[in-house]
Amino acid sequence: MRVVILPNAEQASLFAAEQVKKQITRKPTSVLGLATGSTPLKLYKELIESQKRGEISFADASSFNLDEYLGLAPEHPQSYHRFMRENFFEHIDIDLNNTHIPQGLTDNPITSCEAYEAKILEKGGIDLQILGIGRNGHIGFNEPSSGLASRTRVKTLSPSTIDDNARFFGPDETQPTLSLTMGIGTILDSKKLVLLAYGDGKADAIKDTVEGPLSASCPASALQMHKDALVIIDESAASKLEHQEFYLHVERENQKLLKTLGL
Ligand code: F6R
Repeated sequence: MRVVILPNAEQASLFAAEQVKKQITRKPTSVLGLATGSTPLKLYKELIESQKRGEISFADASSFNLDEYLGLAPEHPQSYHRFMRENFFEHIDIDLNNTHIPQGLTDNPITSCEAYEAKILEKGGIDLQILGIGRNGHIGFNEPSSGLASRTRVKTLSPSTIDDNARFFGPDETQPTLSLTMGIGTILDSKKLVLLAYGDGKADAIKDTVEGPLSASCPASALQMHKDALVIIDESAASKLEHQEFYLHVERENQKLLKTLGL
């Protein structure tokens, strides 16, 4: 696991954007795994600006989102379909037919989750998956106790996730308690993982992810099993890491090496 600690969310988002830009430049037909939530917003803004500057194009790329609320129509203001359209897809040149998000309104969630998995395989798998992390260590909507080999399926949201996301729902809106989410096994199949976390509210989850035991109690700790996982965090999210100095040292060495290799 490569841990990159940057002074603030702004710089961390720029660093994350560089990773996506490199990916899309190296392989314009890249399959991107995308997340919603507040964490990737600055990353999406930077990618939008970068495309406007003519540095990258998403015209040949495709995408798969991690999750969606079960029961919400794509037009629902709090749906992740709407979030992605408003915060990213509408502003870039991606072909909407090549964007995929689990269907919240489905008669048969089981077959629709299986179809989602099949579609990812048909596209050749995810090249780079962006992840946020919940305060409880969830990735996607894989709450603590999720199977580390789980696939796309229906998951019940934990009380802490429902609390965290309540801010997005109005007093007269019903907040869903179920979701459709890629499983941890699905996420681990991605060729590269980039997890972002900002703020001291994420410090415990990051400590458990990076330095805790591999455990379903912290679903993100499954990243320890991945051969190409990059954790990009700001100083606040890194504040509880015991080996902070070491990660900073390793990253300085990495940067020297990458420069020597011209990468
Ligand atoms: C959203 C998702 C979630 C969020 C996590 C953090 O698609 O997969 O795991 O990444 O809940 O949310 P924020 O970024 O709002 O703190």
